[in-house]
Amino acid sequence: MSNLQINGGFPLEGEVKISGSKNAALCLIAGALAIQKKVILQNIPVLTDIYNFIEILKALNVKCVFIDDNHLLIDSRNIVYKSLCLDEVQKFRASYYLIGALLPSVNHVEINYPGGCNFSKRPIDIHLKMFEDYGCKYIANDCLNFHFEEYKNHHIVLKNISFGATVNAILMGLYAKEEVVIENVSKECEIDCLISFLNTAGKNIARENNKIIIKEGSFHNLSFSNIPDRMEIGTFAFLAASKGKLKLYPIIREQISYLEDVFQKLNITYYFVENSLVIENTNVNKSLIIETGEYPLFPTDLQPILTAYLTTIRRIHVLKENVYNERFSHVEELKKMGAVIFKESNTLLINGIFSLHGSIVKAKDLRCGAALLVCALNAEGKTIIENAEILYRGYESIVKKLKAIGAQVEVIE
Ligand code: EPU
Repeated sequence: MSNLQINGGFPLEGEVKISGSKNAALCLIAGALAIQKKVILQNIPVLTDIYNFIEILKALNVKCVFIDDNHLLIDSRNIVYKSLCLDEVQKFRASYYLIGALLPSVNHVEINYPGGCNFSKRPIDIHLKMFEDYGCKYIANDCLNFHFEEYKNHHIVLKNISFGATVNAILMGLYAKEEVVIENVSKECEIDCLISFLNTAGKNIARENNKIIIKEGSFHNLSFSNIPDRMEIGTFAFLAASKGKLKLYPIIREQISYLEDVFQKLNITYYFVENSLVIENTNVNKSLIIETGEYPLFPTDLQPILTAYLTTIRRIHVLKENVYNERFSHVEELKKMGAVIFKESNTLLINGIFSLHGSIVKAKDLRCGAALLVCALNAEGKTIIENAEILYRGYESIVKKLKAIGAQVEVIE
């Protein structure tokens, strides 16, 4: 798929099966590599980032193959280290988990810089400081070169909260002979999913609020199931709220409390039935003032999608982005569809309008693409979303899922 053509304005109705979490899956794959056992991961979404990770693992002589729908077999018992100055490493962000996953056992990792969505500056200083605190040495040239001999420190305090650095710090601590304490960690449920995987594999890891404690334990083969993708839930939830009635399943209610907050503030009709969430298009007549923040606050990944949804509500809304100060690639594209948005520093003032119109727009990154989908499906007329293949980095079978709920969407090669 390169471009998508969308005929907007039609109601969306039906059920959407939510795929496994992209960001948790990337942690689980890194975890499976780190423990060097035979692992079957269930509910792994088939996405570009996952395929790129699989290609890198294969280069390390790790057997890594989908054996069934969304069941990924990873057997890293015969891993053979080689340099990871590979193009694949630059294609996604989570490739830097390879450092934490490999360094304690192979002692030397040469790797390209990570890539990923380019919506803002994305430094890796928190990771580098953490690796140094553990006792690693590194040289940053065309590639990154890490050396590690022994643990110099078992008490790591991350200099700032970072999801990725928390993952790397956990992976790095897995082979310590003493108890490891990591402080100032991120609280995301995807991190808890990784901890749960490692504990099922034989380790003893506990979380105490913003502290993670890793105790001894040896690893064994295992099978483990991934959590649902809360960004996909959020995306379809805002689509439903603007344009129809959708039942989303499976969901884990406590992982999406920030969505309930927004629904309640705007009086959006929603309810839970067993493990599914039903959201109905609601004629909202309220303004929203909201900020993104660390989990369980409203996530930065849904900020572009919420922006798109708010353009459809005829009130003035204020949305402040606190995680990535420059994550606004969607704004100029949404304006091409008639959205009225003013940006001041890291805050958007969104003036919801009566109707959006179709246009030619570009998905500059994954969540920008999702925001464009929300507006295109609400707009009058035809929208072309260019560079739409970027959606396959984070939304499994997106076109098929949209068509199944009545969206008029076609792939244009
Ligand atoms: N940061 C630094 N230095 C670092 C690392 C991060 O300054 O060494 C800053 C970032 O620039 C940002 C903040 O810390 O301002 C938080 O970044 P974090 O490290 O938590 O993000 P990440 O691990 O790189 C993951 C997700 C992102 C998601 C963020 C925030 C994956 C693969 N990526 O990125 O997901 O936006 O957490 O929740 O898990 C997406 O799915 O579209 C996506 C971009």
